[in-house]
Amino acid sequence: MAMKTYKGIPYHLWNPYTQMDRFISFLGMGPTILTRGEGHYVYNDRDQRYINGNSCTWNFSIGYGREEIIEAASRQMRELPFSSCWGLVHPRAIELAARLVQITSGNFAHVYLGSNGSEAVETALKLARQYHRQSPDAKDRGRFKVISLRGSYHGYAYGAATLSGSEDYEAKFGPMVPGFLQIEPPYCYRCPYRKDGYPDCGLACAQALEKTILAEGPESVAAFIMEPVMGEFGVVAPPEEYYRRVGETCRQYGLLFIADEVTTGFGRTGKLFVSQYWDPQPDVLCLGKAISGGYLPLAATLATEAIYQRFQGKQNYFMHGSTNSGHPVCAAVGLAAIDIILREKLPENAARVGTYLKSRLSDLMTSHPIIGEVRGSGLMIAIDLTRDRKTKERFTGDEIYNFLLDAIGRGLLLSYSDWGLSLFPPLNIDEGIADQIVGIMDKTLRTGAIAELDRKARLLKEFAISKL
Ligand SMILES: Cc1ncc(COP(=O)(O)O)c(C=O)c1O
Repeated sequence: MAMKTYKGIPYHLWNPYTQMDRFISFLGMGPTILTRGEGHYVYNDRDQRYINGNSCTWNFSIGYGREEIIEAASRQMRELPFSSCWGLVHPRAIELAARLVQITSGNFAHVYLGSNGSEAVETALKLARQYHRQSPDAKDRGRFKVISLRGSYHGYAYGAATLSGSEDYEAKFGPMVPGFLQIEPPYCYRCPYRKDGYPDCGLACAQALEKTILAEGPESVAAFIMEPVMGEFGVVAPPEEYYRRVGETCRQYGLLFIADEVTTGFGRTGKLFVSQYWDPQPDVLCLGKAISGGYLPLAATLATEAIYQRFQGKQNYFMHGSTNSGHPVCAAVGLAAIDIILREKLPENAARVGTYLKSRLSDLMTSHPIIGEVRGSGLMIAIDLTRDRKTKERFTGDEIYNFLLDAIGRGLLLSYSDWGLSLFPPLNIDEGIADQIVGIMDKTLRTGAIAELDRKARLLKEFAISKL
C-alpha cells in the first residue's frame, strides 16, 4: 500500500490508542489533523471549527492562547531550560512542590514531580510497596497487594494498567503485574452488587473492600487506589458516604489510601480537588492532566509526612525517578496554570456552568428515550445511552461510535466509550458554549439518528479517530 502523506511528508507516526489502519486511510478528513486552537475551539487544516468538548484528552482545561503560560515557558527556556532533579534542584521545582502542598488538603507534605498521569500512579504504587517493605513492624513488611476498582483507568504503564483489571490488557500483553486485585465499582446506575439501590444496599460496594482485604489476609495488602469519579468507566461517582467507608477500612487494616485525581483534579468536578473534603484523608494523591492547563507534560504524586519519614537513611531512599522529573519549563508552566485556575475561580465556574449544562442535557431525556442517565458534576458529564430505559440494554460499540461521528460532524469533539458519550469541556466555558453543546447533542441524539445508523456507519469513512 502506498504510504500516506501529509503535505508531501510521509506519515511515519504511530498514534496512541489508535487503530492505525483505519486512521491512516481517513487521515485528513474531519478533525483528524488539527492545526490551531483559539479559546474553546480547535481548527483543522481546512479551517473548519470544532468545540473542544473533551478538552483534548481531558487535560486542556484553560483554553488556547494563554499568553501568561507562553511567557512563563519562554522565560524559563531562556533562564534554565533544563536541569535535573536527581540530587540537585532548581527554583521552579521547589516553588511548584510548595504550591501543591499549599493548595491541596493540608494533609500532604512531599511532592514527587513527573511527566504524566501514568507516572504519577506508578510512583504511588511503588511508594506504597516500598513504604511497607521498610516498616518498623516486621509483620507489615509482606504487604504488596494493591486493590483497585474494576474498569478504572489509571494509565498505560504496566502497574497502572494492571489496576484496571482489563481482560483486553491481559489478552494483549499479559501476564500483568502480580499482586493486583479488583473489586467491582460503585456504579449505581447499573449496580454490579445489588438491585435495591442506595441506601438500602448498605453500600455493598464499600463492604466489598473489607471482604477482599479479609479474604486476602490484611497483612498482605499494601494499598487501595481509586479515582474519586471514574472517568473512562463512565463518569461514575459513588455516594459521598463511600469515600468515608473505604477510607476508614484502609485505616483499620493498615492500607495506604491512594486518590487518583489525575482527571478530577484542578477544578474539573467543580471542586479544586474532590478528595480535599474527604475524612479520612488519602495518604497519597496523584495529579496530572490539568496541572499545567494541558500546555506541557506534568504530573505529581503527593505523600504525607508520615510516609516520607519512612524513606530516610541510606537503605531507605525512594528508588525511583525519571530524567524529566521536575522539568523546569513544565514546572514554570504548572505554576502559571495554577495561578490562572485559582485567580479565575475555574472550579467555581465549572460548578456553575456544569450545573447548567447537566440540567439542560437532562431536559433532553424527555424527547430522547435513548438517554438512560445524565450524570457527573462540574464539567465532567456523561450521557449514558441505552436501547431501552427499563432493561438498560446498551448499544453496541459501533452504534455509540456512530453517535460520536454525528456529533463530530456537527462540530463538537467529545469522548465516548461502551456506555455512551461524555463531555469534558474547558473549565472556563460559559452558558453560551454550553447551549451550543446542548444544541448539537439534541440533533445527534434525535431518534432519527438511530433509524439512520446504517448511514452513520458509512460516516466512519469520514472520521477515523478511534479514541477521542
Ligand atoms: C484517573 C486517571 N489516572 C491516570 C491517567 C493516566 O494519565 P496519562 O494519560 O497522563 O498517563 C488517566 C488518563 O486518562 C486518568 O484518567
